[in-house]
Amino acid sequence: MRYDSITEAIGNTPLVRIDPAVHGLAHIDLYAKLELLNPFGSVKDRAAWNMARPHLRAAAANGRQIVELSSGNTAKALAVLAGMHGLTFRSVTNRMRIPEIKDLLLLLGAEIEELPGQSECLDPTATDDPLTLFHRTLSEPGGAFLHTDQYFNPRNTEAHLTGTGPEIVKDLDGRAPDWFIACVGTAGSSTGVARALREHDPAVRVVGLVADKSDFIPGIRTIDEAREVGLFDPGTYDAIEAVSADDAIEGMLTLNRRCGILAGPTGGAAYFGALRRLRSADEELTGRQSAVFIVCDRVESYLSYVRRRRPDLFGRPSRRNAPADVSDTEVHEAPAIGVAEAQAWIATGRPLVVDLRSPSAYAALHIDGSVNIVDELFEELVHGGLPFSRNRPVLLACPVGEKSARYAALLTRMGHPEVRSLTGGIIAWRDAGAPLVRD
Ligand SMILES: Cc1ncc(COP(=O)(O)O)c(C=O)c1O
Repeated sequence: MRYDSITEAIGNTPLVRIDPAVHGLAHIDLYAKLELLNPFGSVKDRAAWNMARPHLRAAAANGRQIVELSSGNTAKALAVLAGMHGLTFRSVTNRMRIPEIKDLLLLLGAEIEELPGQSECLDPTATDDPLTLFHRTLSEPGGAFLHTDQYFNPRNTEAHLTGTGPEIVKDLDGRAPDWFIACVGTAGSSTGVARALREHDPAVRVVGLVADKSDFIPGIRTIDEAREVGLFDPGTYDAIEAVSADDAIEGMLTLNRRCGILAGPTGGAAYFGALRRLRSADEELTGRQSAVFIVCDRVESYLSYVRRRRPDLFGRPSRRNAPADVSDTEVHEAPAIGVAEAQAWIATGRPLVVDLRSPSAYAALHIDGSVNIVDELFEELVHGGLPFSRNRPVLLACPVGEKSARYAALLTRMGHPEVRSLTGGIIAWRDAGAPLVRD
């Protein structure tokens, strides 16, 4: 294989059969579409290239910057493509939650702009989510940006309609599989592949996988988040099912350790979700069927994500003091305090006020004198033991009072005598007209 440009190596990824001794299905041949073998490392290489390609020449001539709302694989692919074409790239995001990916983006020359989400409490005079506003500015014609717009751009879906989907059919000797299972991020890959497969066989059953409502699986959305995406159409899927982060990691480990496929968590989620669905179908089958799932990217970028959830895999003791272990009853009974009382307490008791929101939300507006410890970091601190002296009262604040209630319950359980959660969070504080400052 000889290429003039690395972009020619995008696509034509292998379709690899999973050993039946591993998956245990008697009547279904299960195949993994290895999108992790794209040159920049993920399924998003196809979409990024297809969205950016028609505009690169003009953007270079006009000195425009490529911009995308992405904190993951699309940003990575676009950062590389921008560099190759003499352009710069800016990634705009609510929050970069995977440190390895943030570092990689910086290494690739990307600029990163983190904006607070609406739920994190913004300027009280702002009526719109800053990301929405930003999106609007970017989409104005004649702007200084090449905005690839992955959540709405039909060329995202098209990359898979003309590439990924037909490749699967070709590798199955001209037949569509009976089942297709994929995780939903922008919905571009699942929608495009589903369309291509149904052109061959309208009976293909398509399963879309989302993250459990309370869970975070990097790269995919919860069902509520998916509904906000322009490319997402529930009609594409015969079923939409949720996968937990723990199950995604279990699936990932099977692919990594038993199949030689170095998939990341969403590849694991797809494998887990596929098997869960196919097991019951398998029991009723007499003839043979086939199923395909997508492995979106590689494991290496998620070591810290996996370590936080499964320290046992890294030879460390199991997680102590995890907020997820706190029961709903404990959260319900956690010491909490309303805005007026909290103001009085701050004035007289001088508690340490800990703001658990993102640094950008904190920078925009916060309670005077509070310290910002973003919730992921706080979780890490608490894991090691009580991060404050028992003599110092603590007031915890988050966007709406949910996370802070969970941590207040946890710290109470750990023996802190005087910790409280701000009821309704910074939003309630703002709505009550209590003062917020900007540094
Ligand atoms: C790791 C990972 N898995 C799955 C997906 C889902 O792909 P799509 O955006 O095509 O729905 C993404 C998308 O960003 C991703 O980054």
